[in-house]
Amino acid sequence: MDDKMTLSQLYVSGKEGLAAAGFTRPLPPDAALGASLPVNRAYLDSLFFAPRFLSSTVANTSGTILGIPVSVPVFCGPMSGWSQLGDKALQEIARGLKAAGSVLALGIGGSDEMQKAIDTGVPVAKIVKPYRNTDLIFKKIEDAERRGCFAVGMDIDHFHGRLVGDAVDLEMTFGPQSLETMRTAIAATRLPFIVKGVLSVDDARMAVELGAKAIVVSNHGRAAIDCTLPSVVALPDVVAAVGQEAEVYVDTGFRTGNDIIKALALGARAVGFANSVLLAWGAGREEGVRRLVELLGTEMRRTMAALGCPDCAALRAVQLRQVVL
Ligand SMILES: Cc1cc2nc3c(=O)[nH]c(=O)nc-3n(C[C@H](O)[C@H](O)[C@H](O)COP(=O)(O)O)c2cc1C
Repeated sequence: MDDKMTLSQLYVSGKEGLAAAGFTRPLPPDAALGASLPVNRAYLDSLFFAPRFLSSTVANTSGTILGIPVSVPVFCGPMSGWSQLGDKALQEIARGLKAAGSVLALGIGGSDEMQKAIDTGVPVAKIVKPYRNTDLIFKKIEDAERRGCFAVGMDIDHFHGRLVGDAVDLEMTFGPQSLETMRTAIAATRLPFIVKGVLSVDDARMAVELGAKAIVVSNHGRAAIDCTLPSVVALPDVVAAVGQEAEVYVDTGFRTGNDIIKALALGARAVGFANSVLLAWGAGREEGVRRLVELLGTEMRRTMAALGCPDCAALRAVQLRQVVL
């Protein structure tokens, strides 16, 4: 891999690399058939900040995610279907994240896969599916705890399967969970619990009341319900509703360091990157993933310096201006 590769070159090269590795799932922008994804992008692009060049400062992007130190406030969003990319892809991604000082969330997948990721030394959070078979939920939470994950969670938005292209699959595997199941699942583990797929103040308040320690504001790419409020639009209200009671992260459509700055200015603590991590793997395997995080951090530090923000906490005070033409 060319170590001078820029972020956009990395994404283009990653697409070719993924295709060459046999990856057939649609990737953005091809996957962006519904409204939430393009509106997320358009909304992010409509936000601007005023620089404070005369107050410029050296910036540090480090932070924590549920107490785990990270070099840049990003994490690899939960993904699945690793076997499609051969038996080394997940470990290569895990090693790249570890080298970058980042963390990995895992989606659908078995214990062996989880163990291989944990063995690389990268901190792992397991996001369990909302299985109709609730016993499986409890088994997977227990397994994640026993193997040394730093957090567990559930993508509550995936209860009616996923939308791939315009087809719904996995419809009968997952199901909506009762509040009682959620409360019991959260109480059943000593690990912090992450509720992923929150887009409303109601769900945010309920998740905190049930005991969640973190929330991911997410459209799940567009695999969950299409036409849900774009995550970046929903973010500020969720942040306000949750206050200091849980950490709030956001994902769906974030691609650059400046996208992360906007998310932090809107109140997020960290941003999930999923498709971009796949592309980074396609561009350069382990090194591509490490480079992605490095490029995001470099871009962030440049902008933070121009905003007079020495650290991520200072970004909370940055006022974004929306320009609608
Ligand atoms: C190949 C693939 C598999 C995914 N599998 C899961 C999963 O098992 N569980 C989950 O919560 N999210 C899953 N997601 C959704 C991502 O975690 C994330 O919410 C979504 O892709 C939006 O972020 P992005 O725009 O950075 O890709 C998956 C995404 C991709 C691309």
